[in-house]
Amino acid sequence: MSSAIAERMAKIAPFQVMQLLGDALQLQQQGRSIIHMEVGEPDFPTPAPIIAAAQRALAAGQTRYTPSLGLPALREAIAKYHRHCHQVNIDPNRIIITAGASAGLLMALGATISPHESVILTDPGYPCNRNMLHFINAQLQAVPVTAASRYQLTAAMVKAHWQPHTRAALIASPANPTGMLIDPQELAAMAAFINAKNGYLLVDEIYAGLNYTSTAANRNSALTLENPAIISIHSFSKYFAMTGWRLGWLVVPPHLVNELDKLAQNLYLAPSTIAQYAALAAFGDETIATLENYRHALKRRRDYLYDELQLLDLDIPLRPEGAFYLYANCKRWHEPASQISQRLLHEAGVAVTPGHDFGTFQSEDHLRFAYTTDMENLRQGVTRLRHFHQQQRRRVSL
Ligand SMILES: Cc1ncc(COP(=O)(O)O)c(C=O)c1O
Repeated sequence: MSSAIAERMAKIAPFQVMQLLGDALQLQQQGRSIIHMEVGEPDFPTPAPIIAAAQRALAAGQTRYTPSLGLPALREAIAKYHRHCHQVNIDPNRIIITAGASAGLLMALGATISPHESVILTDPGYPCNRNMLHFINAQLQAVPVTAASRYQLTAAMVKAHWQPHTRAALIASPANPTGMLIDPQELAAMAAFINAKNGYLLVDEIYAGLNYTSTAANRNSALTLENPAIISIHSFSKYFAMTGWRLGWLVVPPHLVNELDKLAQNLYLAPSTIAQYAALAAFGDETIATLENYRHALKRRRDYLYDELQLLDLDIPLRPEGAFYLYANCKRWHEPASQISQRLLHEAGVAVTPGHDFGTFQSEDHLRFAYTTDMENLRQGVTRLRHFHQQQRRRVSL
């Protein structure tokens, strides 16, 4: 039996947060109480109308493949949703239903980036992006970002880093792990530059619904720019509280539709049928009312945790505008973040993600706190953090 493993696998790192979650769950099984602030997954149930739609579809025997690009009715419903939320008319033919944003990202990168071309992305940023690039034998140009640029790329940064072999830039807005939005003017300038270079701007808008600065019907989206360089990536996972259903969508320029159809046909044939029928109920008034309650609850949690963490010498220069993360500088705790996260888990029973999951730039000075657990747990978590911090202060002053 051959023990050879493909060369590219050496570059592909595990998604550390999943490892941390595994350790936390193991401790829980041993009877320890753990407050989970590591997981990037809403703790809310999928709204009832979505579940009911799935049950109806199952009862009606909807268990076969759908077209690879997704159910036409769902593509229409998503176009209507963008019309309502972003005042933009999108041809449903440009909407491609995918197996989560994960498949959307991989297919979009696979269809646009040739081996050895490169993609500009942020450090810190969503870790899977780097590994997807390794998987398609592409290069990455990680650009360090700080609070000075709202933890986002600017058009000037993209221009400064663009090389002859650069094919695209990839951003997320709101971003993981910082929760910051990209400035619309920067986005427009970036898209115009990239379009002139015949490249692509991939905008991961998976957290677009979880924006605490605007109302449901008036959220920013890269789609409003109607720039042909833009590929916009979406998901039912986060705002719609459907992580386990594995469903997302892409909005792509017309010339990519057939290319992505080929990839979907070959990679997974079609997205989950039952999830697609369920998602048809995702845009109804009752569902949206529930989801807006979820969003308001998340906003309250953000405000609570943002204030409390700063009282514990954890610095967060900008109040995050979306998603459900706080990316805090823990330098004043005088210990590398990877060590702190291990000690927090084992000594204090609090699971948080160390910065090195998101890149290398100042990563040992940062921890990501996800407020994907209820207020009672967050309060308990803060009490444990306070206690740990007091001990830590005594420890480092010894
Ligand atoms: C920025 C970002 N993009 C994409 C994903 C993938 O999400 P999914 O495949 O569940 O849609 C995640 C998940 O955490 C994320 O944070």
